[in-house]
Amino acid sequence: MEQTLVILKPDAVQRGLVGAIVARFEAKGLKLAGMKLMRISRELAERNYAVHRGKDFYEPLLAFMTAGPVVAMVLEGNDAVRVARALMGSTFGPDAQPGTIRGDFGLSKRYNLVHGSDSAASAQQEIALFFAPGEILEYQRAGDAWTYARRDSELI
Ligand code: RTP
Ligand code: MG
Repeated sequence: MEQTLVILKPDAVQRGLVGAIVARFEAKGLKLAGMKLMRISRELAERNYAVHRGKDFYEPLLAFMTAGPVVAMVLEGNDAVRVARALMGSTFGPDAQPGTIRGDFGLSKRYNLVHGSDSAASAQQEIALFFAPGEILEYQRAGDAWTYARRDSELI
């Protein structure tokens, strides 16, 4: 199944919202395949946000992402990249739909609580930046048969 990288940004950790935000992804049915509390170095932030190099918000973005601990997660499930971003909502809280993470928990136009990979290809690159292969676990959840329908031997 598809995997995506989600980061609970420093504002989520500082505001005590880690549990509330993780609960949204879990309740949807996405499976935690990796998870760690960590501090992002400037080098890692530069690599993760290389596409934004040169933009006016690039330096403030690096300062934000390195300002405190984050929780990095690998989430797995059907269409995990698109589904995780839908749960997150539009980039900034004031514009994000109520019911989404950013829509329900954020009001800032710079601090926006979560990062989610924007394609399956960038997810694989980003996961490799944040996790060693041994830190991503393969396991079955007892509830998977109820989260997904089953076609032949495959969960869908
Ligand atoms: P993310 O990558 O963090 O999941 O967020 P996103 O796809 O919704 O937004 P993206 O366009 O990739 O931007 C990455 C992060 O840069 C900061 N940003 N600031 N105009 C601005 O001031 C501005 N635009 C983007 C945000 O922290 C955004 O999450
Ligand atoms: Mg992005």
